[in-house]
Amino acid sequence: MSGNRVAVFRKVTFNAAHRLYNKSWSDEQNRKVFGLCANEHYHGHNYRLDVKVIGEIDPETGYVINLDDLKRIIQEEVHNRFDHHNLNLDCPEFKDLNPTGENIVVVIYQMLRARLEAKYDLQIRLWETERNYFEYPV
Ligand code: NI
Repeated sequence: MSGNRVAVFRKVTFNAAHRLYNKSWSDEQNRKVFGLCANEHYHGHNYRLDVKVIGEIDPETGYVINLDDLKRIIQEEVHNRFDHHNLNLDCPEFKDLNPTGENIVVVIYQMLRARLEAKYDLQIRLWETERNYFEYPV
């Protein structure tokens, strides 16, 4: 079985608040485009993140990746930065970047990618609600 490529998944959740807003637009324009998501008092989501790591089975361990290592990396890169935070106000990643699902999924991907060995392929899916989710890369 060693050498076979397998996808390993880890699912996590985190909670964060955000507001969708383009600073260069008027409040009226923001309301028109983002609706309730532009509410100046922010709103929260229970985000779910599916992390998919693809690689070859190591003949010595039988693992593609040690899930304890993956768990720790996600904890450090995602939870420590974003969980129970206001993405717009607390997180420098979104100081000048609208925290849409699209932008969040790319930001998280870049952080996890930087922590994983190059031999792995990575794809992540970010669920903002039960019905709306975002995937990167495509
Ligand atoms: Ni929202």
